[in-house]
Amino acid sequence: MTIQKEIFKACDLVIYGGLGDLSRRKLIISLYRLEKGKFLEPDTRIIAVDRLAEDSASFIKIALKSLQEFLGNPVEEQIWNKFCARLSYQQMDLTRPDEYKVFNKLTDSSKRVMVNYFAVAPFLFRYICQGLKHSGVLTDSSRMVMEKPIGHDIISSKEINDVVASVFNDDQVFRIDHYLGKETVLNLLALRFANSIFTTNWDHNTIDSVQITVAEEVGIEGRWEYFDQTGQLRDMVQNHLLQILTFVAMEPPVNLEAQSIHNEKIKVLNALRPITAENVLSNTVRGQYTNGVQKDIAVPGYLEEEGANTISTTESFVALRVDIDNWRWAGVPFYLRTGKCMKYKRTEIVINFKQIPHNIFTESFKNLPANKLIIHLQPNEGIEIQMLNKIPGIDENIKLQKTKLDLSFSETFKNSRLFGGYEKLVLEAMRGNPTLFISREEIEQAWSWIDSIQDAWKATHEEAQDYPAGSWGPIASDEMLARDGRTWEE
Ligand code: BG6
Repeated sequence: MTIQKEIFKACDLVIYGGLGDLSRRKLIISLYRLEKGKFLEPDTRIIAVDRLAEDSASFIKIALKSLQEFLGNPVEEQIWNKFCARLSYQQMDLTRPDEYKVFNKLTDSSKRVMVNYFAVAPFLFRYICQGLKHSGVLTDSSRMVMEKPIGHDIISSKEINDVVASVFNDDQVFRIDHYLGKETVLNLLALRFANSIFTTNWDHNTIDSVQITVAEEVGIEGRWEYFDQTGQLRDMVQNHLLQILTFVAMEPPVNLEAQSIHNEKIKVLNALRPITAENVLSNTVRGQYTNGVQKDIAVPGYLEEEGANTISTTESFVALRVDIDNWRWAGVPFYLRTGKCMKYKRTEIVINFKQIPHNIFTESFKNLPANKLIIHLQPNEGIEIQMLNKIPGIDENIKLQKTKLDLSFSETFKNSRLFGGYEKLVLEAMRGNPTLFISREEIEQAWSWIDSIQDAWKATHEEAQDYPAGSWGPIASDEMLARDGRTWEE
């Protein structure tokens, strides 16, 4: 017999790790903004759970302090009053199964859906899952939301997914990649599948190469130990960059249903050509920042950061040449790069189109520059097309100039606010819409591709190359493209 799930709109949102960084910097801020936008159901409650001996009153003060620190705008009294009435705090030792019984009192499954947000280290997932199971508080409608890192390789990722699967069905599990909540990443679907100029010009016939850059200005920000065990490949490429790549490369899904989109993304991940010991030296670059200057300010190197040991070889930068072995993308390299402490914060996709086959404007350009589509994901969200136009004039010869069509989101959509990734995703998890979340298959496929790079680096003793903080990465990254006759978009 299939049990009809009861779907309520209101939620009991339980945040495990309610006093942690993610909760204070992102979740509280996003929830407050959702309150402001009137997106929270009147009956929705937010229960922060952590091990420190706070009570609800002191948690409310902590939440207000977080808003004052991280919201970026003044906290509005009216909104705050409404918001704080939803908040409560529960002290708990998450490793003790008997303590989970408290949720029988704190939540009400006859009125609200229980949404369990795991904002804690993955080793605690097992305890939370078991505790929830034994408390008997879960129903078929309950959900769980989890954050990266979902493992650090394919084995640990499977372990986490198995633990979660022992308690929650897959349709109750919402795996977050906050890049999928970014407006501009979502807009890739609209750009590609709502505009016929792109649907017909989006393959190896017209595209020469694709670049995806996620450059961060920040360094390690006090989390050296975590980062040092992770590195930029696992921290950024396994999830955010590969997700962007799947949006750029996937076939048109039949509709916007979660399953249709997951199906297309997984096909792309399956088609990634493995990077192995044979090709790792030519297709990857690892980097680590040394001290340098960013916007006229001296910044320390990776090994001089707080908490650093001086012999680490972990990469804070990675550049990759990725090939997608399918019909659409045969022969079109995707160049990916991401790093900490780079010159500017900039996330962008550059679609480099092929040169036209025959140049009749040699007076202007010996080599006609090819068109480019640049999608600025953050900051200054927008879309730019670089093209050639005739310089107006009555000269005998036609003279061309490089020009651009420039669409800035903030200019064009003046009355709309760009939502942060977390706002969108927390709301979708509360609505129970899985489209913007990642499937187990995607995560595991991404890990097995990343694992082969890690193995190849180990086998070849590939060193991290120095790059000064405030630059665009090691010279080897430029050299990798130069070998293919290309350059990074600067
Ligand atoms: C996180 C990484 O997932 O994404 C961080 O763990 C990184 O290391 C962050 O700084 C970047 O996110 P955004 O939204 O600032 O580009």
